[in-house]
Amino acid sequence: MSEKKQVSRREFLNYTLTGVGGFMAAGMMVSPLRMAIDPVLKAKDAGDYANVKVAVKDITTEPKRIEWTIDQVDAWYESEVNKSAWVFKNDKDEIIALSPICKHLGCIVTWEGSDDFPNEFYCPCHGGRYYKDGTNVPHTPPNAPLDYYEQKIKDGMLYLGDTIERSEAK
Ligand code: FES
Repeated sequence: MSEKKQVSRREFLNYTLTGVGGFMAAGMMVSPLRMAIDPVLKAKDAGDYANVKVAVKDITTEPKRIEWTIDQVDAWYESEVNKSAWVFKNDKDEIIALSPICKHLGCIVTWEGSDDFPNEFYCPCHGGRYYKDGTNVPHTPPNAPLDYYEQKIKDGMLYLGDTIERSEAK
């Protein structure tokens, strides 16, 4: 013979109010919690490329310095970041987009920045030199080639992504 346990009105109200209260509290916590951690959890969009407003047909074998800005999100801090590249075509008609940041101590390199070293990138800070393909000239301060930008072409325009470090450091 089974014995049914009676739930008193007081117990029923306690269970109901505890359940509804807990459910409401959890619901109220979801939104602020999501706002707090969402930027951290948000995956960086893979393959983010910026239209740098350069038509492929206008790129010549002479390196040209181009500049653009991107919106950068670091966790919950959003900022505008200036970017820059030296862009040209090599002998095989391939587009090369080099970072202008010197691999020695981070100054900005300039194409033919020294009359003494034509046809090279030159860093004025400590006399760093790079061949046109970005390879560092041996026995000058930089000990690695200039980084290059990931790139893609869409509708005849050049898009640049992240910089890639080259491994053939000298
Ligand atoms: S920072 Fe470029 S040579 Fe030193």
